[in-house]
Amino acid sequence: MQVKVQSGDIASFAAGAIVVNLFEGVTSPAGGTGAVDKALGGAISSLIAAGDIRGKQGEFTMIHSLNKLPAPRVVVAGLGKSAGFSIDRIRHLSGDLARYLRHQRVKSAGVLAHGAGIGGLPAEDCADAITEGTLLGLYTFNRHKSKDEDGELDSLTIVEHDAAKLPALERGIERGRILAEATNFCRDLANEPANYLTPTEMGRQAEAMAKDTGLESEIYGPGWMAEKGMGGLLGVAAGSVQEPRFIVLRYNGGGNAKPIALIGKGITFDTGGISIKPAENMGEMKGDMAGGASVIAAMGAIARLKPAVNVIGIVPATENMPSGNATRPGDVLKTMLGKTIEVINTDAEGRLVLADGLAYAREQGATALVDVATLTGAISVTLGNVAYGAMGNDAPLMERVKRAADAAGEKVWELPMWDEYFDLIKSDVADMKNSGGRPAGSITAAMLLREFAEDTPWVHLDIAGVDTYEREKGIIVKGASGIPVRTLVQFILQSAGEPASVK
Ligand code: BES
Ligand code: MN
Ligand code: ZN
Repeated sequence: MQVKVQSGDIASFAAGAIVVNLFEGVTSPAGGTGAVDKALGGAISSLIAAGDIRGKQGEFTMIHSLNKLPAPRVVVAGLGKSAGFSIDRIRHLSGDLARYLRHQRVKSAGVLAHGAGIGGLPAEDCADAITEGTLLGLYTFNRHKSKDEDGELDSLTIVEHDAAKLPALERGIERGRILAEATNFCRDLANEPANYLTPTEMGRQAEAMAKDTGLESEIYGPGWMAEKGMGGLLGVAAGSVQEPRFIVLRYNGGGNAKPIALIGKGITFDTGGISIKPAENMGEMKGDMAGGASVIAAMGAIARLKPAVNVIGIVPATENMPSGNATRPGDVLKTMLGKTIEVINTDAEGRLVLADGLAYAREQGATALVDVATLTGAISVTLGNVAYGAMGNDAPLMERVKRAADAAGEKVWELPMWDEYFDLIKSDVADMKNSGGRPAGSITAAMLLREFAEDTPWVHLDIAGVDTYEREKGIIVKGASGIPVRTLVQFILQSAGEPASVK
């Protein structure tokens, strides 16, 4: 799928369809939409007057141009109310539009730079949002289907009459492509069934991506983990025939500076272990490495965008399986940091592998830690699938993460980390236990992680409510969402002091 930019008048653009736009309540369109309306002999204004076109967000109207224009079809895309119009609305509209065009079997389309004209938003951010929205909205996971059912939209050209805006539009397309491709790479990894995406395969994919993008990579096995004393990770891996992997990716853009660390939970399948999960929907646990996948994918985008900062990406990857070798409830594990954890519930495995991931990040001198994990079912009880949860030990770092999420158009909500919550995970036999039961389940999980962040600024993102969706909407498609890849990338860009896109 190509996204391009061309200067000229959209009315004379030759493609399967041209796409113009309309705010709700506008009765006589101006700009590019006005020019096309004129060429169609006033068809758009007539349809507005008849109440058939209302400019509502998500409304697409196809008009056949019957030889009045080079393009056989004109699509009028509703932009919604002009109040509150935003980059994020352009992103979602572009996702819906791309699927609409594909459904109509349109192969090539010309679009106005939605938002950059009458909308008054920066051209670069508009082009970024159009590109992200299009590439994210068209995503499909078909590699295990014998035949591909969908038609293809092959090319989208932003047609801009003001030639001075072209360089900004080009930059926006480039950034949008990198962000969307990284998100789609994350989706590919998270959608991949666990019999294909084993920990070993996850390591291979990370390594291959690192080679392509110029990242350094180190993929470690169980012998190395034992030397490091990673009893949390090895304790979870104990029940599996698949070897665990500890994936490390390094991006060096900041000279000798200490790195920022991104750490992702990489459970390639979570049965729950001996505390086994019910059969219903267990298959969804193939996506329990979505946090790790977002870290790997974000590292790839960072390598392509080249911010002036050092970043280390860390993914402890393993299955969580029951077997004669599996860790039992009641067992005590000794982590890399030396702190011990009583395993109350083998299904609370994510925090065990992250404990060692965080310890390793600190050993590597990380100055800030951001971990990402499908950690608790409780977070989707709290926030539904609307926002992911954030918990941490450092207010300024939390603010930076929130600002990055804002730039990405991904919603985040902070939960409290009062010390009282630690009481719930005090253990009689070890330094702490891995489950505090049902109350404040997402927070008690984070309280355990906090013990391993120690005095390093740290933010934990619990994405278990937003990592997969059942229905498509805007940039969201069925299956893995790729959230929070774009937040992570924006966070690193902002950490390097580079301008990030606005909301
Ligand atoms: N991977 C799950 C969390 C999860 C649940 C992700 C649903 C996505 C959808 C995690 O490992 C888990 O099982 N957590 C337990 C913790 C409990 C045993 C303390 C949970 O949330 O029930
Ligand atoms: Mn689990
Ligand atoms: Zn899990």
